[in-house]
Amino acid sequence: MNKTIDELYKNPDDKNIKKNFQFILFGGTGDLAHNKIIPAFYNLAAKDSLPDEFTIVATGRRYDNKNAYLDALYNSLINKKEKIDDKIWQFLTDHIDYFQLSFKDENDFKNLRKYLENKSKKEKVSNRIFYLATAPKFFAEIAKKIEKFNLLDIKLENNESRLVIEKPFGHDFKSAKKLNDTLSSIFSEKNIFRIDHYLGKEMIQNIMVIRLSNPIFRALWNKDHIDNIQIYLNESEGVKDRGKYYDDAGVIKDMFQNHILQVLSLIAMEEPENLSAEEISNKKVEVFKELADNDLSNIDNHIVRGQYISNIVDGERIKSYREEKEIDSQSETATFMALKLFLNNERWSGVPIYLKSGKRLNKKEAGIAIEFKDGFHPAYLDQKKLDNNLLLIKIQPEEGISLRFNTRKPASNNKIIPVEMEFCQSCQQFFNSPENYEGLIYDMISGDKTLFTSWEEVSYSWKFIDKIQEKYAAENINLHKYPALSKGPEAADQLLENDERKWLDNNK
Ligand code: BG6
Repeated sequence: MNKTIDELYKNPDDKNIKKNFQFILFGGTGDLAHNKIIPAFYNLAAKDSLPDEFTIVATGRRYDNKNAYLDALYNSLINKKEKIDDKIWQFLTDHIDYFQLSFKDENDFKNLRKYLENKSKKEKVSNRIFYLATAPKFFAEIAKKIEKFNLLDIKLENNESRLVIEKPFGHDFKSAKKLNDTLSSIFSEKNIFRIDHYLGKEMIQNIMVIRLSNPIFRALWNKDHIDNIQIYLNESEGVKDRGKYYDDAGVIKDMFQNHILQVLSLIAMEEPENLSAEEISNKKVEVFKELADNDLSNIDNHIVRGQYISNIVDGERIKSYREEKEIDSQSETATFMALKLFLNNERWSGVPIYLKSGKRLNKKEAGIAIEFKDGFHPAYLDQKKLDNNLLLIKIQPEEGISLRFNTRKPASNNKIIPVEMEFCQSCQQFFNSPENYEGLIYDMISGDKTLFTSWEEVSYSWKFIDKIQEKYAAENINLHKYPALSKGPEAADQLLENDERKWLDNNK
C-alpha cells in the first residue's frame, strides 16, 4: 500500500489550466492576497499548472508602482516558504501587474477598463475572474462598479467571467439575501464562486471518497449502524487582530454557519447520483433545508455557549476574550459553542450529531468522529464493555484516517483489546499537502464549482443559524466562562455525559 501512495505523491498532478485568463484581484495589497492567493499561484506555477498567457491584475491603493508591490509580496512569501525558487518567482512576476485603484473612485474604474481592454487586445483572453479579496462590506459596491464600467465585456460570445467572494456572506439571512440579490443581478449563479476554504482541505475533499468508494462504509452509513457523529473544529489561537469583526460574528457565524455546517452536509447528505457540482450541491441543500426546518424546542438543553477568560499557562498570562484588541469589555459574544442536533430523515433519525468549535482551546485540532453501534456478538458481552468501532477523519493538523476495531490480546485468554489502524496522510515521506487555496483557485479558473457553496446552501444555513440566535437571545442561554487554553466549558462535556458518551477529540 505504501508503495502506491509514495508513487502517487512523487508524480505531480497532471491537471493543467489550458485557457488564458485575466485574474483581477481587488484587495491585492491585503492579507488574503499576500498570505493565501499569491502563495497559491506560486504553488500552481511550481507545479506547472498555469498556461503561458495569463495575467494577475492586482489592484490596491497602497503602492504606486509594481516593483514596490512585488517586493511586499516577496517578503510575505518568504515567511511562508523555506525557499523561493527564483525561476518560478520570475515566471509568476512576469504575469503579475499592479494597478493602483481605490474602489471609491469612479475614474480609477474607467482607467481599469481601458487598461484591461488594451491588455485583451494583445492577449487572447477566454475569461476574467474578479476576485474580491476585500472587506465584505465592499462586495456589492465593487460588483456594481464592475458592471457599471463594463469590465465584464470582453467581446466574447461565451463570456464566462466570474466573481469570487469569501465569507462572511452577510450577517444573517436578510443581509445575505440583499447581497446576493445585487450580485446575482450582475453575475449568474453559475459564475459566482463563494469560497469556504474548509472545502479546499484535503480531508474534506476526501469525505465523499471515503463514503462512496468503500463498500464497508457505504453499507454502514446510516442510523442502523452509526451511534453518533461528532465534528470538532478546535482552535488554540485567540481572535488575534480581527476583534472588530469577531465580536459581531462570534463562533456561531465565524465557524458554524459555514465551515461546520459544510462538513456536516458532506457527512450527512444522501448519496449523489453522479459527481457533478450541481448534483452534490442539491444533496447538500437537502441537509441544510432540513436544518433550517429543525424544531429547536429542545435546543436549550442541547447548546453550550462559552467565552474564554484569562489564564496562566506556563507562567504566562493569557488574556481573556474581553481584554483582546477591539473587543467590548462587557462583550457577551460566544467564542465557543457545542451543539447537539438530530436530522429527522430516514438515514439519520435518532442519531445524535454533536458539533463543537471554539477559540483558545488547548489544542488546535479538527476532525470528524463516526462512532459505530455496539452490535457485538452476545458471546462477547460478558467481557468488560468493549469499545465501539470508530472511524476518525483527521482534518488538521494531522491529516489522515484511523479505524478502531477490537482484536484478541496476544497470548491472553481471549482478552479483547481495541487497536487502531492508522493512515497518516501528512506523515507520508513525499507528502506535501497543497494549500487550501491552491485547489480552489485552480477550480475557479477552470469553472468547477464543486468546492464552492451555492446560494441555496448559504441561504438555508443562515436560516438555521438565525433560528438558533433568536432562540438563545429569547431564552437568555447561559454564556459559560472557560479558561483560555483549556478544554472549554465543563458543560460541553456534560452535554455528552448526559447521553453516556464523550467527545472523541484530544482536547482534554
Ligand atoms: C476562518 C475564521 O474562516 O477560519 C477564523 O474566520 C478561523 O476565525 C479560521 O481561525 C480557521 O481556519 P483554519 O484553516 O485555520 O482551520
